[in-house]
Amino acid sequence: MKKIIAAAMITSIALTLAPAAERYDTRAFRIVTKLCTPCHGTPFYMAKQLDSDDWIYFFDHREKLLKIHKNKPKGIASLKNKLFLNHAKRLKKFFVKSAKDSGAVHGCDANFCGTHH
Ligand code: HEC
Repeated sequence: MKKIIAAAMITSIALTLAPAAERYDTRAFRIVTKLCTPCHGTPFYMAKQLDSDDWIYFFDHREKLLKIHKNKPKGIASLKNKLFLNHAKRLKKFFVKSAKDSGAVHGCDANFCGTHH
């Protein structure tokens, strides 16, 4: 009996800790750093410029994004980059999760330390 209780406890502890280990998508973070940060600042700073519904809107209407960047060839190149196209779904999720209204505040880690850009 004790073993079952211990197993249940270990499972519940593991489930609690799992999301804490990866609080944001580091792959998405690195893609944004590569494609968007030169103009928009760090990924979290950039995410905080818009509300989550704005991010959803822009990712669902990517032709608008292209239009906004039409005088920025490097911006267009980023939006047409394979990394952006192939990972748009996770980038959208990343921006939504870190948006202005998300309440997410990120501490210092290997990828990110503060809002400087
Ligand atoms: C060459 C510079 C450049 C790059 C690279 C770039 N952008 Fe932009 N972006 C801009 C400029 C300039 C604006 C217009 C800002 C404005 O009018 O306030 C803009 C506007 C935007 C907006 C609208 C924001 C708003 O406040 O309405 C979004 C969303 C956006 N960019 C997303 C992206 C994403 C995602 C990437 C990376 C895949 C990216 N941009 C890469 C320069 C760039």
